[in-house]
Amino acid sequence: MANRPLSAVRGMHDLLPRETVAWSHIEARLRTVLRQYAFNEIRVPLVESAALFSHTVGAATDIVTKEMYRFTDLNGESLCLRPEGTAGVARAAMQHGLAHNQVQRLWYLGPMFRHERPQKGRYRQFHQLGVEVYGLDGPDIDAELLLMCARLWEELGSENQGGLGLKLEINSLGDRETRQAYRKILVDYFQAHRNALDDESLTRLAQNPLRLLDSKDSELQQLIHQAPSMLDCLDSCSKDHFDALCELLDKAGLAYQVNPRLVRGLDYYEKTVFEWLAPEGKGTAAVCAGGRYDKLFESLGARATPAIGFALGMERLLNHLPKHCLPVAQEPDIYFICADMASSLSLASMALSLCDMLRRELPERMLLQHLGGGSFKKQFRRADQSGAHIALILGEEEASQKSLTIKFLRTDRPQQTLPIHKVSAFLQQLPWD
Ligand code: HAM
Repeated sequence: MANRPLSAVRGMHDLLPRETVAWSHIEARLRTVLRQYAFNEIRVPLVESAALFSHTVGAATDIVTKEMYRFTDLNGESLCLRPEGTAGVARAAMQHGLAHNQVQRLWYLGPMFRHERPQKGRYRQFHQLGVEVYGLDGPDIDAELLLMCARLWEELGSENQGGLGLKLEINSLGDRETRQAYRKILVDYFQAHRNALDDESLTRLAQNPLRLLDSKDSELQQLIHQAPSMLDCLDSCSKDHFDALCELLDKAGLAYQVNPRLVRGLDYYEKTVFEWLAPEGKGTAAVCAGGRYDKLFESLGARATPAIGFALGMERLLNHLPKHCLPVAQEPDIYFICADMASSLSLASMALSLCDMLRRELPERMLLQHLGGGSFKKQFRRADQSGAHIALILGEEEASQKSLTIKFLRTDRPQQTLPIHKVSAFLQQLPWD
């Protein structure tokens, strides 16, 4: 430890001020659209009981078997850092009576933890914006969520010609019985080709054969392509639901591709599932994914409640966004300069209270007061470097006349001195943008 510089845990990242500006900008835009669609925010703990995820995400999934940050706390309870948000929000809804016999439209934003192999777009701590809807079982809410996603991409990509270019893929996983029947058909199919499977695929075949369809192994792609399709096995209720969803999307003019091999890495899904993918060349990792999980509440011992949701990966979204769509830095509008406090503490005190007053009178403007003293020359250099448009100067003369000098840092406009009580009104009418 003594010789190693301290650094963040592998796969977990600091967000520095230049990045948080972009994050806040994106978050604000996402929130605006969520409000337009009448969603309410929910905040749940980062730590949950580990059993919650084996019961919902699935005891045999990669997330639960390999990726959860599990620990035993001082009371001997088996806990974990949440690997995703759906299970915790459902737990909260059950606990607070939010799920049964009512409609809930919830969203959350926060860190999730999975011990995956870190690479671009795959981290051990990452952030999801998640949306969950309870109490609606028709395909109209499936369609609305997908249309809302499209609206989010439109909002975020508005500065970019051609928008964000994310491609939507959808599928139906049918009900539990359909999946069991399909699972058997799939096992028979892959058993007949087991010589082509490596050890990892054989394990998937034994534990979770549907996940074989999700394999990225290039040698398996042809085999996967020729595998029997889930859509041919759908029960009539799931088929009607899926057909109606497709019709609603067609009528709304939302482009999508049906991908019968789209399965998800979490076991709670049934019927509709979907992913929004970055186009080829940018990696086909899903930026956003979700689906229906109508049996999750029952699996937790609650009354049946239809449910659907999705989560988008904030890091993947930010990686995908063209850089010119993101603000780079937050620069002050106004830089306040004051004669060196070594010469007069009363000037320093006057500067503090003037800045406080101006911030109250100009709440939209960012005002940075030069602190720490120094010559006017040094302070002007700092003002220039800060990116501010205007410097306000309080020197001995201004103080004695109860005035401030306004210097325009980015234009040739001549500087002017105004009585203090007129400064805010003057600044307010300037064209800032
Ligand atoms: P998920 O597909 O596991 O679904 O994750 C959703 C999104 O989170 C992914 O599409 C991706 O953008 C992001 N993500 C996942 N893992 C990582 C990682 N290691 N590093 C960076 N980003 C990652 C869920 O979590 C479900 N709870 C979604 C949902 C909500 N379904 C219904 N409601």
